[in-house]
Amino acid sequence: MTDSVVVQTPPPLIPIDPSGADRHGEAARMRELGPVIRAVLPGDVQTWVVTDYALLADLAADPRVGRDWRNWDALRRGEVPEDWPLLSMIRLNNAMARDGAEHRRLRKPLTRTFTRARVERLRPRIEEIVNTMLDDLPNHVGPDGVVDVRKHYAYPFPMQVICELIGVPEAWWPRFRELIDTVIRADTTAEEYLTTQQERHELWQRLFAMRRAEPADDLTSAMIAVNGEDDDTLTDDELEDTLWMLVAAGHETSISLIVNATRALLTHPDQLALVRDGDAETWSKVIEETLRWDAPVGNFPARFPTEDITVGGVTIPKGDAILAPWSGVNRDPAKYGPDADRFDITRPNQKHLAFGGGPHVCVGPALARLEAAVALPSLFGRFPDLRLAVDSAELTAVPSIFSNSVTSLPVYLGPSRD
Ligand code: HEM
Repeated sequence: MTDSVVVQTPPPLIPIDPSGADRHGEAARMRELGPVIRAVLPGDVQTWVVTDYALLADLAADPRVGRDWRNWDALRRGEVPEDWPLLSMIRLNNAMARDGAEHRRLRKPLTRTFTRARVERLRPRIEEIVNTMLDDLPNHVGPDGVVDVRKHYAYPFPMQVICELIGVPEAWWPRFRELIDTVIRADTTAEEYLTTQQERHELWQRLFAMRRAEPADDLTSAMIAVNGEDDDTLTDDELEDTLWMLVAAGHETSISLIVNATRALLTHPDQLALVRDGDAETWSKVIEETLRWDAPVGNFPARFPTEDITVGGVTIPKGDAILAPWSGVNRDPAKYGPDADRFDITRPNQKHLAFGGGPHVCVGPALARLEAAVALPSLFGRFPDLRLAVDSAELTAVPSIFSNSVTSLPVYLGPSRD
C-alpha cells in the first residue's frame, strides 16, 4: 500500500491593474476565480486575496492574522525591493502596522481624538470651510462653462479639515497634497518614493520643533504634551508616522467618498430625486450606499498570518501577504443578492466593509461621515441644476491599487441658490 499525498492545487494568479481602470470588473473576475486566490501586485510582488465578504470580515478579526510587516517573510528574505513604492503603505511605525498590545498603545490616542462627540464639535468649522469653497466654486468655471468639482471642492476640503486639526501650517498644505498623491499613485518611481519619505520626515521634524517651542491648540501639540505621561508614550518616529497616516488616510479617502457619491447621484437621477425630497437621514443613506457600492479604498495591503491558516478551504502559509479588496467584497452577491452591483439608497442591508474590520478598523468614520454629510447636501443645495459635463464612462480612474475613484469630475453648476 502506498501513502496517499494530498496536493493542494495552487490558486490562480491574477495581476492587480495599477491603473485602477476597471476596479469593480477586476473584483468580479477575482471573485469568479474563487474565495481565496493569488494575485500579483505592481513590481511583481505576490499576495493572497480573499474575495468573499464573510471570509474577509472573519479574517480581519482573526487574532492569528496581523498587520505587522515585520512578519512578512518575503520582505525578510529580501525578495521585496527596499525601494518598492507600495512599502510606503506597509512599512510604517504606527497603529496600522502593529498588532496586539503595541497596536492598542498606538491606536489609543487616535480613538480618543476621533470619537463621534469630539468630531461633532468640528461641524461649525467644517460648514464654514464648505460654504467658503462653494462661494468660490463659480470662479473656477472655465470658458466652456465647466468646473472640475473634484479639483476645486472635494480635493482641497478634507485636507484643510485634517491639517487644521493636526496643526499643519497652511503654507505646507499644497506640498503635503503632492506628497500624498505620490504615495497613492501606482506609477511612483523608486526614486520619488525615497525623496517623499525624506521630505515628509523633514517637514514633521520641523513641525515638532515648532510646537515644542510654542504649543498651539492642535492635535500635534496635544500629542506632544501627553507623550511620556504614561505607558502610552510614542517615540518621535511613531508620532511622525501616526500624524502622517492621519493626513494621508483622512485626505484621499474622504475626497473619494465625496466624488464617488456626487458621481453616483448625477448618474442615477431616480436616486437623486429621492434625496431632493428627503432629509438628513436620506443623505446618510446616500453616504452609506456610496461606501458600499463604490468604496473609496479599493485594495488594501497587507495582512500577515502568524501561523498557517485555512480560509475557505485554502491554506495560507504563515508569513505570506494577504490583500483586502474592500471595494470588491462590498459588491459580493453572496452578501447583497443578485443586485449587488446596483446603486440603491433604499437597500435594506446597508452594512459594508468600506472601513475595514477587526482591531484595525478605521478610526475615522465619524469624521468621514460628517465631512460628507456637510459637503454633499451643501453642494446639491447650492447648485440644484448640477449635472455632469462628460459621459461618466469617460472619466479616468485614479491610477492606484488603493484608491477607488476618478481623477476629475467635470460638471455644469447651473444657477446658484444663494
Ligand atoms: C471615507 C473615508 C475613509 C475610508 C473609506 C477609510 C477606510 C479605511 C480602511 C479600509 C482602513 C483599513 C482597515 C483595516 O485594515 O481593517 C482604514 C484604516 C485607518 N483609517 Fe480610515 N478611512 C477613511 C477615512 C479616515 C479618516 C478621516 C481618518 C482619520 C483622520 C482615518 C484614519 C484611519 C486610521 C488611523 C486607520 C488605521 C487603523 C488601525 O490600523 O488601527 N480614516 N481606513
